[in-house]
Amino acid sequence: MATLFCLSSHVGSASAQTSNPPAIVEVCTPCHGINGTGGEVEKPNLAGQKSIYFREQLLAFRSGKRKHPDMKLIARDLSDREIDQLVIYYSTLSPN
Ligand code: HEC
Repeated sequence: MATLFCLSSHVGSASAQTSNPPAIVEVCTPCHGINGTGGEVEKPNLAGQKSIYFREQLLAFRSGKRKHPDMKLIARDLSDREIDQLVIYYSTLSPN
């Protein structure tokens, strides 16, 4: 897997990241955290979420089928490619 090659360059960093986050993750981190485990109780954890479920939720927020004011605003501007990157990133993070 390509991500394995990225790991070595991050071994020395203090964070517990498991793979190189795509740039778009910056949009999510204030609420969901870089590790997919947000601090506040009303923000769901994303780390290790099932990839099919994760994609369906983002598509549902984008289309308005699933309603939430914050996530609607966020998902509205996501491209299919960005959704792919987010699905891969968060679903492969360890939930712990
Ligand atoms: C302003 C805060 C905020 C930001 C920024 C944000 N989210 Fe969320 N997100 C939430 C909240 C709050 C919920 C819970 C929605 C609900 O109650 O239905 C949520 C729910 C979700 C869910 C559904 C989780 C589940 O278990 O059903 C996914 C997936 C998700 N967010 C992904 C993302 C991604 C990917 C990004 C970045 C592109 C992002 N979010 C940015 C606040 C945020």
